[in-house]
Amino acid sequence: MERIAVIGAGLMGHGIAQVFALAGHTVRVHDVSADALASLRERIGRNLVELGLDATSARRVHGCAELADAVRDADVVFEAGPEDLVWKRALFARLETLTSAQTTLASNTSVIPITQIMDGLATGTRALGTHWWNPPYLVPLVEVIKTTHTEAAVAQRMFDLLARVGKTPAMVEKDVPGFIGNRLQHALWREAIALVAEGVCDAATVDTVVKASFGRRLPVLGPLENADLVGTDLTLAIHRTVLPAIDATRGPSPYLVQLVAQGRLGMKCGEGFLRWTADEQGALRARVLAHLKAMNAADAA
Ligand SMILES: NC(=O)c1ccc[n+]([C@@H]2O[C@H](COP(=O)([O-])OP(=O)(O)OC[C@H]3O[C@@H](n4cnc5c(N)ncnc54)[C@H](O)[C@@H]3O)[C@@H](O)[C@H]2O)c1
Repeated sequence: MERIAVIGAGLMGHGIAQVFALAGHTVRVHDVSADALASLRERIGRNLVELGLDATSARRVHGCAELADAVRDADVVFEAGPEDLVWKRALFARLETLTSAQTTLASNTSVIPITQIMDGLATGTRALGTHWWNPPYLVPLVEVIKTTHTEAAVAQRMFDLLARVGKTPAMVEKDVPGFIGNRLQHALWREAIALVAEGVCDAATVDTVVKASFGRRLPVLGPLENADLVGTDLTLAIHRTVLPAIDATRGPSPYLVQLVAQGRLGMKCGEGFLRWTADEQGALRARVLAHLKAMNAADAA
């Protein structure tokens, strides 16, 4: 069993700790917030109860007020702290001195290039990215991102560890912005916004089309499997016609910029692309959670 350390006991950090604790690992979690540490085991225990899993595994998670106590003797450190480049660089510089050269150091940044976080390290061969998705205990994917310095064996060990605790790891060979998942997701969002901006349909219709068509098949049929299914020749013919018409704006859509300027910031203020009552927001969140739980239950069956 590897000894796991997690830095940051927030939304992602407590979920990452939960995954390893459930799989039998001892996990030490550091946070500067006493409240986050005080509620850590309770949050994990509640998640496990809701999922019908062994809630006693929360006892394998130990909160540490001192960073050094959390990472001493750790085999792997996952950083899930603030999304701030300066803060992350300083943290990894400290981690490098507080851990042995055998310890793997991983950042869970959403979008900051891993290379920018790790390039000041003397031992960058043991540093990489692990991009988990929210909630970490319900979404299977973890992208394992290599920098040009990451030792291949270190990345492979991380990949194998994640697979052993039940995740679906994906190796990202080059440290590109957005890694793989967010590049694909935001390519779709760009065209979704363009369709609304061009008056082809309204925002609700975009979402209906996705959810009621290829979205239905996505859990079992990836885009490249789909291309092979219909034939690469047909895919080529479609691309010759459709790709020249698809939005290729290099930056954010002016439509999105305008929404933000108008203060239409989404659910937090009741309106974004769509209007949201508090009840509708709650219902959507509940539907997503129920769907993810049902998918996990189906995977386990
Ligand atoms: N929320 C998501 O959907 C998501 C998905 C993938 C990646 N990420 C990334 O994961 C990281 C964490 O995100 P989150 O959503 O869990 O944030 P969060 O705000 O819920 O948690 C961050 C935690 O870090 C703690 N913290 C602040 N300063 C600290 C310090 N000096 N030392 C130790 N801990 C400190 C905070 O007290 C907080 O508990 C970010 O880099 C984020 O971009 C988030």
